[in-house]
Amino acid sequence: MATPERDSITGTPTTGHEWDGIKELNTPLPRWWLWTFYATIVWAIAYSIAYPAWPLINTATAGLLGYSSRADVARDIADARLAQGKWLERISTSDLDQIAADPELFAFARAGGAASFRLYCVQCHGSGAAGARGYPNLNDDDWLWGGTLEQIHKTLENGIRFTGDPDTRDSQMPAFADGILTPAQISDVAEYVLKLGGQTNDAVAAARGEPLFAENCASCHGETGEGNRDLGAPRLSDPIWLLNGSKDAIVAQISNPRMGVMPAWKGRLDENTIKQLAIYVHSLGGGEQPDAQ
Ligand code: HEC
Ligand code: HEC
Repeated sequence: MATPERDSITGTPTTGHEWDGIKELNTPLPRWWLWTFYATIVWAIAYSIAYPAWPLINTATAGLLGYSSRADVARDIADARLAQGKWLERISTSDLDQIAADPELFAFARAGGAASFRLYCVQCHGSGAAGARGYPNLNDDDWLWGGTLEQIHKTLENGIRFTGDPDTRDSQMPAFADGILTPAQISDVAEYVLKLGGQTNDAVAAARGEPLFAENCASCHGETGEGNRDLGAPRLSDPIWLLNGSKDAIVAQISNPRMGVMPAWKGRLDENTIKQLAIYVHSLGGGEQPDAQ
């Protein structure tokens, strides 16, 4: 190749490219830039020798310094466990009332309970514990089985109608359509339930339903529909519904009741976690004191 032509003004060689008489100069790279460029190459080589770098089939080159982000995380977790240890120890040696009475311990237990709730409970009770049809809202003071720390703790330990636990909370509303009440009677007593809950109802039918209620329902739901926590029978004299307050839903429940099931958590979660969950649920807003009932 011939020596490239030099530009007559700057003296810089040209690349030989030319467009309409304009020639491209071949200006050399600035020296500082070139040296920085070489330095980054040296750095990259040194780095890939010192630190984990090249992917292999199952792993990567380990690097001479033995650095591992996984080991870092493991160390952080071990530190956190150590820091939690003294709190967890105190939770396991305190009963629920002692935890609730100690502001620091309470704050730790509540935070731990909130974290466990997000893992184990939100699928059914919703992320804000607001529940859904058939899954009770845990924020309000309308309790099926009771809202004291002890009662909530028992519900969590043994579950509700959970066949795997002999101590589970249990009760069964009869299927009244199975020869106990006629469809007309079921309709009447449903009108009475609407009346108990303060909803619009057919007054004549509700009057016919009242004695039917006293005879068939009051044993569980109470004379005035106030409910019974020993049986998990919901209060009917309020606008809060576990299922749905429509006439159709009430008729369906009386005819062929749906019975909620919650697994027992004893055995699946350790006692410490269950205590923290009880503290958390109790703190949601509806928690009751033992003498408040
Ligand atoms: C598989 C669904 C499911 C999961 C998961 C679940 N629950 Fe429940 N829970 C229910 C149902 C259904 C009921 C209502 C049972 C009934 O009708 O009596 C209930 C009832 C309760 C009650 C009683 C409420 C009352 O009014 O007395 C508490 C407290 C409770 N759950 C807390 C929890 C906590 C805490 C967790 C997580 C550890 C959890 N639940 C996980 C389904 C679930
Ligand atoms: C043996 C006790 C028992 C008897 C008797 C009984 N119930 Fe129930 N009832 C329950 C229980 C327990 C539940 C809660 C079901 C659940 O948790 O899933 C319930 C739920 C209900 C609900 C749904 C409440 C809601 O909040 O969604 C209605 C309505 C109802 N019963 C009406 C009646 C009527 C009307 C009668 C009489 C004809 C009756 N029950 C008789 C135990 C009983």
